[in-house]
Amino acid sequence: MPCPRCCPPGLLALVGPGLALLAQLALASPPDRRAPPAAAAPGAKGRTLVLLDVNTKSAVRVTGDSFLSLQLDPSIIHDGWIDFLSSRRLVTLARGLAPAFLRFAGKRTDFLHFQNLKNPAKSRGGPGPDYYLKNYEDDIVRSDIALDKQKGCKIAQHPDIMLELQREKAAQMHLVLLKEQFSNTYSNLTLTARSLDKLYNFADCSGLHLIFALNALRRNPNNSWNSSNALSLLKYSAGKKYNISWELGNEPNNYRTLMGRSVNGSQLGKDYVQLRSLLQLIRTYSRASLYGPNIGRPRKNVIALLEGFMKVAGSTVDAVTWQQ
Ligand SMILES: *[C@@H]1O[C@H](CO)[C@@H](O)[C@H](O)[C@H]1NC(C)=O
Ligand SMILES: *[C@@H]1O[C@H](CO)[C@@H](O)[C@H](O)[C@H]1NC(C)=O
Ligand SMILES: *[C@@H]1O[C@H](CO)[C@@H](O)[C@H](O)[C@H]1NC(C)=O
Ligand SMILES: *[C@@H]1O[C@H](CO)[C@@H](O)[C@H](O)[C@H]1NC(C)=O
Ligand SMILES: *[C@@H]1O[C@H](CO)[C@@H](O)[C@H](O)[C@H]1NC(C)=O
Repeated sequence: MPCPRCCPPGLLALVGPGLALLAQLALASPPDRRAPPAAAAPGAKGRTLVLLDVNTKSAVRVTGDSFLSLQLDPSIIHDGWIDFLSSRRLVTLARGLAPAFLRFAGKRTDFLHFQNLKNPAKSRGGPGPDYYLKNYEDDIVRSDIALDKQKGCKIAQHPDIMLELQREKAAQMHLVLLKEQFSNTYSNLTLTARSLDKLYNFADCSGLHLIFALNALRRNPNNSWNSSNALSLLKYSAGKKYNISWELGNEPNNYRTLMGRSVNGSQLGKDYVQLRSLLQLIRTYSRASLYGPNIGRPRKNVIALLEGFMKVAGSTVDAVTWQQ
């Protein structure tokens, strides 16, 4: 039975995120028990017909331009995946998503160490994508570079052999990552200055704003945050004038299961205050945005962590964040 005022959710998605959001809000509003049962089609067993009255004249809420954004997990550092961030095809596709945030964070955030190697080429294994890139990087298709000269973008047309090698590695790497996930034990990851350059180059060339989550699990004996590695990363990226927003740690409510050591809300708040004062000391980041505490869904003990955090660092962060 066709009904002019209702359409399946699938169709709503086609008219745009704004409208779909309004429709969801309408569906999520508490049911009015006094309303006549007009919404339920009589006799249609197991099926519910929902009447949607979408008000397209006025907005209920207006989201930011970057409402739909994306995240990259630091596991891409493994085995040269990060080299593909300079792929012309990927950058072209990512440009379609701008304006958006690119959040570099995930489970492995708190296992990430920055290393400002003077000569990273020496530490590279071969032959792998890294090895090939090392040889091709210097003559990355000149015309592509010319195209993006104003922005200083480094974009590459990767040789097929590199893609093939990476495909071979992919299956193997996937197993390693899965194993870490299942056993909930993660190995330390090293982010070199060169990898950070590649990450930033990708974000910048694609028109995405990078949010970088620093490792919060580097701790002093009294459980306060040891900022020395973060400071070295901040200094490096400030030297490069990288426009980055910052976070400290990922899902701190999970630290007990992840590392067998917990960090409470007030301690994390103090760590954020410490990070803010570090940022203020560095001219490039004196007005940078700081987001946190990146907790999991706020319920039960996670709420206690959030409350402790807010008391200490509520006025220090530019946005309070949590994950679904
Ligand atoms: C990872 O690094 C931390 C901090 O340096 C260290 O305490 C820990 O033992 C390392 N873990 C592994 C598995 O090497
Ligand atoms: C902080 O970490 C650095 C390097 O990991 C180490 O050299 C330093 O001793 C640590 N500081 C404290 C107070 O433990
Ligand atoms: C914890 O230890 C660090 C490094 O040793 C020190 O700088 C800091 O003042 C200590 N914090 C407290 C509250 O004692
Ligand atoms: C850094 O990026 C933010 C977000 O895109 C932008 O608003 C700001 O103007 C930029 N800052 C500088 C110094 O370019
Ligand atoms: C939070 O943790 C810190 C450091 O481990 C500790 O000194 C403090 O007493 C704790 N605060 C609360 C409210 O549990």
